[in-house]
Amino acid sequence: MKTYPVLHAPLRFAACLSLAALACLSSHAAAKHASPPPAPLVNHPNAQLTGKELDKKVEALLSQMTLAEKAGQLNQFTAGVATGPGTHRENYDLMVQKGELGSLLNVTDAATSNHYQHIAMEKSRLHIPLLFGLDVVHGDRTTFPVPLGLAASFDPALVEQTAHVAAVESRADGVNWVFSPMVDIARDARWGRMIEGAGEDPVLGSAMAKAYVRGYQGNDLSSPDAVAACVKHFAAYGAPVAGRDYNAVDMSELQLRQTYLPTYKAAIDTGDGAGAATVMSSFNSLNGVPATANPFTLTQILRKEWGFDGLVVSDYGAVSELLKHGIAADGAAAAGKALTAGVDMDMEGDLYLTRIPALVQSGQLPLPVVDEAVRRILRVKFAMGLFDHPYAPENGRPYVATDEKRLLARKAAEESLVLLKNEALQGSGPLLPLQTDKKKQMKIALIGPLADSQHDMLGSWAASGDAKDAVTLRQALAKRLPAETLLYAKGTDATGTSTGGFADAVAQAKQADVVLLALGEPADNTGEASSRTRLSLPGNQEELLEAVAAAGKPVVLILFGGRPPAIPWAAAHVPAIVEAWFPGMEAGTAIVDTLFGKDANGADANFSGRLPVEFPQSVGQEPLYLAQLPTGRPAGDADLTHPPTNAEERYLSRYIDETNAPVYPFGWGLSYARFSYSTPAVKHTMGSSSEVGRVEVSVDVKNTSSVAGAEVVQLYVRDMVASVEQPVRELKGFQRVELAPGEQKHLSFTLGFNDLAFYNAALKRVVEPGTFKVWVGGNSASTNEAEFTVLQ
Ligand code: NOJ
Repeated sequence: MKTYPVLHAPLRFAACLSLAALACLSSHAAAKHASPPPAPLVNHPNAQLTGKELDKKVEALLSQMTLAEKAGQLNQFTAGVATGPGTHRENYDLMVQKGELGSLLNVTDAATSNHYQHIAMEKSRLHIPLLFGLDVVHGDRTTFPVPLGLAASFDPALVEQTAHVAAVESRADGVNWVFSPMVDIARDARWGRMIEGAGEDPVLGSAMAKAYVRGYQGNDLSSPDAVAACVKHFAAYGAPVAGRDYNAVDMSELQLRQTYLPTYKAAIDTGDGAGAATVMSSFNSLNGVPATANPFTLTQILRKEWGFDGLVVSDYGAVSELLKHGIAADGAAAAGKALTAGVDMDMEGDLYLTRIPALVQSGQLPLPVVDEAVRRILRVKFAMGLFDHPYAPENGRPYVATDEKRLLARKAAEESLVLLKNEALQGSGPLLPLQTDKKKQMKIALIGPLADSQHDMLGSWAASGDAKDAVTLRQALAKRLPAETLLYAKGTDATGTSTGGFADAVAQAKQADVVLLALGEPADNTGEASSRTRLSLPGNQEELLEAVAAAGKPVVLILFGGRPPAIPWAAAHVPAIVEAWFPGMEAGTAIVDTLFGKDANGADANFSGRLPVEFPQSVGQEPLYLAQLPTGRPAGDADLTHPPTNAEERYLSRYIDETNAPVYPFGWGLSYARFSYSTPAVKHTMGSSSEVGRVEVSVDVKNTSSVAGAEVVQLYVRDMVASVEQPVRELKGFQRVELAPGEQKHLSFTLGFNDLAFYNAALKRVVEPGTFKVWVGGNSASTNEAEFTVLQ
């Protein structure tokens, strides 16, 4: 069992166990201001990307390169499908031979990658291997849940395992560089790319970011089973104005540093075994400067403050898009700006290759700037051992969805599922788990456009995953149930408007004992370039839901999608709701096992996922997230379900037509098991300023039910009074713990400087003296609280 995050920096403070102690410490605390210890800003160098031996090799090669060959190393084109508006090119053979390409993207098979690599290694003048990049985002051949679903597992160790499988499969396909993890904090569900990351929270996001990198790179980049990770999209791509993809991002530096940068830093930081070798710059502008030509983020923060040693690649065509951003008058200016700002490789822009030599020759671009970018690329290639083992296994390794892979995919899918609601029906217990008693076998009507769509189960960015390997709900139910007990109707298309299938759906529902409704977004409504202005169920699915529910049979709503939908009607009227995201290859099996509470072999299956994003009532609440800043007119406990009727009700930070609250809050998720918590106990260490200080918060968590279950124990904090506003509640740690029936475990969390620090108005990371509230529970609405006080 592991606690996230792990902390280290020095801090002097005290924690109080009792109110009396608190009072004594508080008065002391109020007296003076702390002089905070400096935050550790610069990383240790990434040992895999630095060192004398490596430098020697890089310099020796660099000294032999012509200017054209240097520009070639900085160039990347797609040799497969276009994953953006693309230019069509031919004759890559010749380009590789002439040293005009440092990398290709979107090659998905070993034979093709070996073909180009042989040309690079054997026919190009300097025999420099190519990097082959691909969007392997949630598995390569074996498709795991989409990253938002994996985040819902709150299980970084599991995510690391999935990333390792993806790495091994990618290498077998000739891919040595994956464009993952996507670590953009996403707090606005209109933005379609929320699906690709870990959601709204930087602590969860950082733990996930590190897990992916560890899984991809292992602890030895030169291992033939390791791939280079690419942290994207730097920076703050997840906060576009109005949730519209590629749109401008405008935010204070304080918010940028406090909330949006930590996940990128976590991924490139070498602590905890991460240390991503590469970073991708993003499409968006940040405070008016496109991220792909932004020296502040790319050079000041990434290189100087964080000490990043790897390579930065632009996003697809982002260098040429600098013209459209209106910050470069022509291609040469765009290339010069991007390279000087710190983008080393031009993905699909075709500007570095064609403009850089002339810029250098005319004296507009200093050669050392080009050399530095080439060095960073060569460093990664040497560190990965590509000069020694450049090729994929001959013809790749044939892919087989083995039992072992399916088992991991099923575990990941199972842990990603979030049971949002499970109400008791009149005269009986909760609707779920469904009855498995063969003698009393109930009739199930499976209805909905996502009940039997293999390709939708894989979600967006399914890399090389084959839809044929995916198990749908219908297929999984058919395996578990006698044919006569399973009824099926599609009802409507996922984005359809025809009600032609409604009558059949309602008729099936009427014949059944229970209805499973599989609704939500089809996979192509999510991901890149898939922003939405409506968060309700697409097409006429809401009407289908209400029509089927009117048949009067108990309904279990199973939601698919890449963002939290607005489903206030369902939340109020449907007795059981499961958020399934896109669970990947083992979707159907995992869902059916958890719905029954047992797998096909009779082993227990249970829900344990928790929401990594809040569920809105309506789109107008977006951006909606837990860690909101306080206001001077908090709505507090006011009844916000009706329009304000007097001044006290009106002049609050609220809507006149909607509650402030989410339908389901961050961290929410139910289990068939029940858990009880002791009040958090807080211990402090008091030391001199040279000692490491920490707060230890501990609780006893008990499974009070008769079924086994995993609880995600979450710790939240509020810094009650600080020189700049602090969020009303923020996640600071979590632990996923398996508990047998009746079992109790004692868990403790350590909070150190990095947990309690914030950026003050002078943009210094500080911990200020004063009171902190802490809550420990199974979701962010926990009232299980304690306090501690940080002393001067
Ligand atoms: C554009 C996307 O923004 C990025 O995430 C992806 O890695 C590249 N295209 C390459 O496909």
